[in-house]
Amino acid sequence: MQTCETVGAMRALRRGWTGTVALVPTMGALHAGHMALVAEARRRADHVVASIFVNPTQFGDPRDLDAYPRTLDADRAMLEARGVDALFLPSVSEMYPEGDETIVEATRLSGLFHGAVRPGHFRGVATVVTKLLNIVQPTHALFGEKDYQQLAVIRRMVRDLHLPVEIVGHPTMREPDGLAMSSRNIRLSPEARQAALVLSRALDRAEALAADGAAVERIAEEIRETIGAEPRAMLRGLDIVDAESFLPVVRYLTKRAGIMISAEVGGVLLIDQREIEPKETR
Ligand code: PAF
Repeated sequence: MQTCETVGAMRALRRGWTGTVALVPTMGALHAGHMALVAEARRRADHVVASIFVNPTQFGDPRDLDAYPRTLDADRAMLEARGVDALFLPSVSEMYPEGDETIVEATRLSGLFHGAVRPGHFRGVATVVTKLLNIVQPTHALFGEKDYQQLAVIRRMVRDLHLPVEIVGHPTMREPDGLAMSSRNIRLSPEARQAALVLSRALDRAEALAADGAAVERIAEEIRETIGAEPRAMLRGLDIVDAESFLPVVRYLTKRAGIMISAEVGGVLLIDQREIEPKETR
């Protein structure tokens, strides 16, 4: 595996490749969820690039940025073992050159839902992903479905800006007990780790209610009650949206919808998501 720390080095390596190239953008602290993306990238493309860049512009709170786990040696070993061809590992000044003033934003989607709770977050994501796509010029780029709104923002941005890349979403990877895999999980104390199971439990109950044809408000109430019953968890965001338009669903589900929740557990902000089908189409 070659490591490229500059835009020039990455471009030079890319220029020498023919065939398809898949990019797996990450912020490091890699886990089995990322490895599933790498495996899918390997299946789809002749060359695989992983990037590790803890992007400062998508963190509102500098303490959150400082606390973000950094495990570079272990990350490198995992990528190498999975046959990744290149690791793009830029510095902040390489990605955001002195005087940088250009941003990319999906203006409606970025301000909704998780974006309303974390202002500027999706602008930071869209900007850095645009830069990564321009630098690596992949034919495919892979993202986890756990970050449901992030994936929707990236798909919209790629469509709107006519970026020549296929965006591939990959289902959320879970621990055997149901906890969605996340780089943030290593910051959970054992008690908080146990309490964090409330997110997937709430989504299981929501899915069961949707299967019975329950109204959206009833589904939301069940999620609020389930998370409210866990003293270590504080619900921060709950949205049930049409999977295509990303508009909030009102009254009953008539089409495929996404439930997105975010909750703070033991001081760590966690997110989880579930796609649900309306009763009629099952
Ligand atoms: O999902 C992530 O890890 C990040 O938001 C991403 C897509 C790598 C952009 O920094």
